[in-house]
Amino acid sequence: MEQVLVVGAGFMGAGIAQVCAQSGYQVHLSDVSKEAIENAQKAIEWSVKKLFQKGSLKDPPADILKRLSCEADLKSAESADWIIEAVLEKEDLKRNLFRELEQIAPKKTPIATNTSSIPITRIATVTKNPERVLGLHFFGPVPFMNLVEVVKGEKTSVNIFEKSVAFIRTLGKTPVRVHRDIPGFVMNRIFSAAFREALDLVADGIVSAEDVDIGMRLGYNWHIGPFEIADNAGLDTFALVSRSMKALGEEMLVSKSDLVESMIQEGRLGRKVGKGFYRYTPDGKRIPWDEKG
Ligand SMILES: NC(=O)c1ccc[n+]([C@@H]2O[C@H](COP(=O)([O-])OP(=O)(O)OC[C@H]3O[C@@H](n4cnc5c(N)ncnc54)[C@H](O)[C@@H]3O)[C@@H](O)[C@H]2O)c1
Repeated sequence: MEQVLVVGAGFMGAGIAQVCAQSGYQVHLSDVSKEAIENAQKAIEWSVKKLFQKGSLKDPPADILKRLSCEADLKSAESADWIIEAVLEKEDLKRNLFRELEQIAPKKTPIATNTSSIPITRIATVTKNPERVLGLHFFGPVPFMNLVEVVKGEKTSVNIFEKSVAFIRTLGKTPVRVHRDIPGFVMNRIFSAAFREALDLVADGIVSAEDVDIGMRLGYNWHIGPFEIADNAGLDTFALVSRSMKALGEEMLVSKSDLVESMIQEGRLGRKVGKGFYRYTPDGKRIPWDEKG
């Protein structure tokens, strides 16, 4: 059985680990935070049980959970066939991690980052074998979102790139090849342009967040609106990605408004804490911010 090490057990790392375990891989999920590990274990357990009840999984939850182990260090990189990093969107943190992972992992093991914005080449420069470094940009919530951007860094080998496209298919996801690693890659650049405008319109008092979401659903057939997407992703993660995009010289894709930063100050981090652009009931129902529920 091939082994996958996922580093970072937050919203994305937990989802990636779950999908890999569901697909028959032996998965190690690593995080420096004990709390993150505990939350990830609970979330994965809950999710596979629900999916199994709905008939969406072929293996019973106990078999899937047997393929998942959690840890606080990077030791299992030693035997990993695939490594996927999903820690906070901070370039220095990712670079340090790649430096460390490369020393532990077998030479042939691809090391992927789930970064939303940072060009792969910038992360790969700290490694001795940049040909095995690439981007695997999953979308959240990972168990439900079928797209993965497979991103080629300047030095990623064609062999690793194509092997990774095939790997993504084994997870039941649809890969999209991104041939050059510009900041934000493809989908985040397109979404960021729309979200920047949406946020500016709301910050200027022209429209409410709920009405933008209604408009994009009914007017443009978006499945969910931009503010629902932001709440699902986490506004703290959104703010880190915006900072990163600015630092990479992509100001035109980032709103000038400080609305998200001020919401974060008020603890409105999105769905995970029950409040963001919307409020969420304990059973996960979304209600407009101004409604008491
Ligand atoms: N949230 C989204 O919708 C989304 C979508 C695509 C990509 N991403 C990207 O995925 C990555 C993770 O995002 P997230 O939303 O899961 O964030 P998150 O805040 O939910 O999780 C990040 C995790 O990284 C852990 N971490 C920090 N330093 C670490 C270290 N040195 N070793 C191991 N773990 C460490 C933290 O404890 C935390 O559990 C980011 O790069 C983000 O840009 C996020």
